[in-house]
Amino acid sequence: MDQTRAIRFSTYHFMTDTMDMIRQGVDIPFHRREKPLRNAGSDAYQALRQGIAVREVSSSLENSNLKDRTGTPATGRIAVVTGATGGIGQALVRRMLGSGYRVVILSRQVQADMPGVTSIACDLTDMDSIRTAAETILTHAPQLDVIVHCAGIITPRAVGEMDTQEIADQIAVDLAAPIELTNTLLPAMRRGGHIVFVNSMAAVFPLAGSSVYTAAKFGLRGFARALEQELRPRRIQVSSIYPASVNTPMLRREMDAGGSIYNFIDQPQEPDVTAQRILECCERNSREIFSSVFDKLFTHACLASQGLLNLSLPVMKILGRMGYRTYKRRTSRM
Ligand SMILES: NC(=O)c1ccc[n+]([C@@H]2O[C@H](COP(=O)([O-])OP(=O)(O)OC[C@H]3O[C@@H](n4cnc5c(N)ncnc54)[C@H](OP(=O)(O)O)[C@@H]3O)[C@@H](O)[C@H]2O)c1
Repeated sequence: MDQTRAIRFSTYHFMTDTMDMIRQGVDIPFHRREKPLRNAGSDAYQALRQGIAVREVSSSLENSNLKDRTGTPATGRIAVVTGATGGIGQALVRRMLGSGYRVVILSRQVQADMPGVTSIACDLTDMDSIRTAAETILTHAPQLDVIVHCAGIITPRAVGEMDTQEIADQIAVDLAAPIELTNTLLPAMRRGGHIVFVNSMAAVFPLAGSSVYTAAKFGLRGFARALEQELRPRRIQVSSIYPASVNTPMLRREMDAGGSIYNFIDQPQEPDVTAQRILECCERNSREIFSSVFDKLFTHACLASQGLLNLSLPVMKILGRMGYRTYKRRTSRM
C-alpha cells in the first residue's frame, strides 16, 4: 500500500469508528476525539488538510443528491451544521439525528457516510471554500430548515504578542465564516426556518488574554441581532446561545495555552447539555439563551458598569482558581 492510500485507510477507519459511536449514542472518549484531530503533526491530519481525501467526500455528495448511503432521500428536515466534529457539534448531530433531521456537516475532516449525515469539505478560514461548499449544498438541497453555526476557535494571547495568522483565523472562523455562510445559504432557507449561532459568554463579558475571540464573538452577536430584524418578515428565526464553559477539546486546548481562569467559576457544562439547548433553540422562536438568568444579568451589568466589573474581577479570579482545581481533580480521576 502506498503512503497516501495508507493514510486514507487509517483515517477512514478512525472516522468510521467515530461515526459508529455517534450512531450508537456512545460518548467518544477524549483521547479518541483529540488525538487524530489535534495532532497536527500526524500524517492523516496533514493529508486531510491538504485535501487528499476531502475531494472524495465532496464528489460523493455530488453523486448522492442528498441521499444518505442507504439511498433514502432527504425527506426529513435538513440542517446544515458547522463544527460538527467538535465536542458540542458531535453531541448536537447525535441529537439532531434522533429528532429526525438530515444533517449536512461542513468540516475540514473527512466524515465516513452514515445514515442521515452528508459531509462536505470546508475550511472556514477560506471564503472560496465556504462559497464552494454552499453551492454544493444549494444544488442538492434547495430548501434548508436549520443552520447551526457551531465551529469556533480560540487562541489565548496577550495583545502585543499575537501572531497575525492567529488573529486572522479567529476572526475568520468565529465571525466572517458564519456571516458569509449565512449570506450564501439564506436564499435556500424556508419560511419558518431557524438560524442558530453558537456564541459564548465572551460576547458579553470581555476576556482579557483572548481579546480577538472576544471581539469576534461580540461581532457575531451584533450580526445575529441585526439579522433577526431583517428576517422577521420572512418568518425565519434567529437565535444565539451563550454557553459559559463546556467540557470539550476546545476548553482543554484553551487552558493549555493559558486561557481564562473565569471559565471555571462554575464547573464546565457537558457538551450534551449544550447540544440539547441548541436543539431546543431550533424548535422555538428567536431567542438569546444564557446558561442561567444570573449569568445573563450579571454579565450585562458588568458590561454596563466598568466599576462593577472592576470590583468583581478579583472575586471571580479566586472562584475561578478554586473551580479549576476541582475540575483538574475530577478530570484526572476519569
Ligand atoms: N468549549 C467551550 O468552553 C465553549 C464555551 C462557549 C462557547 N463555545 C463555542 O462553542 C462552539 C463549539 O466549540 P467546541 O467546544 O465544541 O469546540 P471544539 O471541540 O474545539 O470543536 C471546534 C469545531 O470547529 C471546527 N473548526 C475549527 N476550525 C475550522 C476551520 N478552519 N474550518 C472548518 N471547521 C473548523 C472543528 O472542525 P474540524 O477541525 O473538523 O474542521 C470542530 O468541529 C464554538 O463556537 C465555541 O466558540 C465553546
